[in-house]
Amino acid sequence: MRILLIVGGGIAAYKSLELIRLLRKSGIEVRVILTAAGAQFVTPLSLSALTGNPVCSDLFSLTDEAEMGHIQLSRAADLVVVAPATADLMAKAANGLANDLASTVLLATDKPVLMAPAMNVRMWENAATQRNLATLKGDGVSMIGPHDGDMACGEFGPGRMAEPAEIHAAILAGQATTPKPLAGRRAIVTAGPTIEPLDPVRYLTNRSSGKQGFAIASALAKRGAQVTLVAGPVALPTPAGVSRVDVETAQDMLAACQAALPADLAVCVAAVADWRPAQIAPRKTKKVSGNGSPVIHLTENPDILMALSRGDNRPTLVVGFAAETDNVEAYAQAKLIRKGCDWIIANDVSIAETMGGDHNAVSIVTTKGIERWTRLDKSEVADRLADRMAESLT
Ligand code: CTP
Repeated sequence: MRILLIVGGGIAAYKSLELIRLLRKSGIEVRVILTAAGAQFVTPLSLSALTGNPVCSDLFSLTDEAEMGHIQLSRAADLVVVAPATADLMAKAANGLANDLASTVLLATDKPVLMAPAMNVRMWENAATQRNLATLKGDGVSMIGPHDGDMACGEFGPGRMAEPAEIHAAILAGQATTPKPLAGRRAIVTAGPTIEPLDPVRYLTNRSSGKQGFAIASALAKRGAQVTLVAGPVALPTPAGVSRVDVETAQDMLAACQAALPADLAVCVAAVADWRPAQIAPRKTKKVSGNGSPVIHLTENPDILMALSRGDNRPTLVVGFAAETDNVEAYAQAKLIRKGCDWIIANDVSIAETMGGDHNAVSIVTTKGIERWTRLDKSEVADRLADRMAESLT
């Protein structure tokens, strides 16, 4: 793979050196365009030493053009990566400006583009940057980050560039090179367990790992969808390009899903607790000898899948999962009708490694029939499902 890396002018430019090192280690050929502002932060000498190639910076440089013309630069690459993508570079690319080498190449390229924005939090939150971001996403540009964090300017908030290892992983996973049939579509994905408190220290929950839901959120984002991932408590990193909302209880999960509407697509993968304790004790329940064991009264939780399927503002495609231990397909068909969704992805959780494991054998149940897939890696299940969902929405 060959990458054309555009290094913009921001303090995060120093991280592009580490990114180049990681890419080279994976056998990826890198050429660099350094903007005039970028050259204030990193030197052409370090970049060329790390890439083993001369660095291009000037649109009208005879030497650069003789070495490799600016149109040729993008032709010779499989992917254009902009890291750091400054507010200025994003604005130029969103509006088709071409007044230096970096912006001219971004306008001239027909290759996939991955941007890793980095800027001050207020510049990021400014309506102009958010407009440019929406335009770029709509044009099929992939985004990674920015993340919340401490910034060089002493502030805290979104604007910190994604770490080189994360950008490297997204490139290897094909985040930017995957076709974008879901560009401009909004998706909600629920994932993980919910936890339902009994008192300030105890709760009821289940064994869901969140892996399948996170993989689906990632697969949808890779295909261009704007994904809100509503996640119960799990120890998984947020997939690239996904907005994550962390929740604990089923009621909070429902509220977060409703706040994310309208959407074209909803995929309910979460293992929502069907019941919650009817009362949450305000203080830790004490063990008093001779008083016996406490009795816990439960009350039913809202059904998020049903609420999305039958509510106002219904997404065009609503997909549920059915984790069963027996009669898998018959129960899944009944669930499809009862919950009013379009597809149920049924899986057999009596197979020991499904819950918490890395593989899944699923059947796709729709009103038209049942399709059985063989046992696959959870990310493969996610990729195939995302392709199906994209097909069904177009
Ligand atoms: N689900 C939901 N909200 C709930 C319960 C379930 O959104 N309160 C969703 C799950 O995310 C999944 C689907 O409904 O997509 C099926 O969940 P499952 O727990 O298997 O179904 P139940 O409704 O609990 O039915 P049963 O107890 O009969 O298995």
